[in-house]
Amino acid sequence: MLESIKEKIKDSKKIVFVTGAGISQESGIPTFRGKDGLWRNHDVMQLATIDAFYDHPKLVWEWYNERRRNIFSSKPNLGHKAIAELEKFVKVVVLTQNIDGLHQRAGSKEVLELHGSIVTIRCTNCDFKGQILTEFTEIPPLCKCGNILRPNVVWFGEFLPQDVWQQAIIHASRCDLMIVVGTSLVVSPANTLPIYAKENNATIIEINPENTMMSSYMDFSIKSTSVKALPELISIFRD
Ligand code: APR
Repeated sequence: MLESIKEKIKDSKKIVFVTGAGISQESGIPTFRGKDGLWRNHDVMQLATIDAFYDHPKLVWEWYNERRRNIFSSKPNLGHKAIAELEKFVKVVVLTQNIDGLHQRAGSKEVLELHGSIVTIRCTNCDFKGQILTEFTEIPPLCKCGNILRPNVVWFGEFLPQDVWQQAIIHASRCDLMIVVGTSLVVSPANTLPIYAKENNATIIEINPENTMMSSYMDFSIKSTSVKALPELISIFRD
């Protein structure tokens, strides 16, 4: 398989990655769907909507505190690192649905966070926004202005940050290779990004141990984990 992929992609000039929870699974961060997925044991409507947050801010914050603890103690894996290394050889942009910051910690320079960041906190009322790595002991935490602080993530029913999304569309529309890693591609609008790439005649490769909604849409589907597949795939560009 790698030989046939190699011929097709070795001269790519601009590579866009679309990543999801699966790329961080081997760093010890659970995915959302699938057998150990967070949405198996947690009710998304109680934890990841703005209504849930205003109804039970303490409960939502407890859940985010736990996730922040896990994410901050996790490390980028060989999949994240392979993507970062690829920047040495070719133009790379990462469009990620992940909020964990692991691409940046692996060294990737151009990362667009479609669903925000768990590292960043913002006020529900004023303009305050900042990276906070310490744990909140008083929850819900309050802003200096007196209002509740929230994680700077995109909850269900909320819009993606529009400037980031517009940039993501532009990158997807201009790449000649898109590599889709570790996402079930069930969440919109991120799951439309491969369509923009296809309209530009880009080659699209999926890396995922399972079939997804769009596997049949891909030019190549690598049924493997990102830690196994990405270093090998990236070696095509190193040679
Ligand atoms: N390597 C590659 N892929 C993997 C691995 C791995 N080690 N482990 C699991 N996967 C795949 C699964 O097969 C699945 O297709 O990763 C995918 C994870 O899918 P989801 O859990 O649905 O995660 P994601 O697509 O990122 O979810 C999108 O939904 O609720 C949310 O906002 C949250 O950003 C998230 C969005």
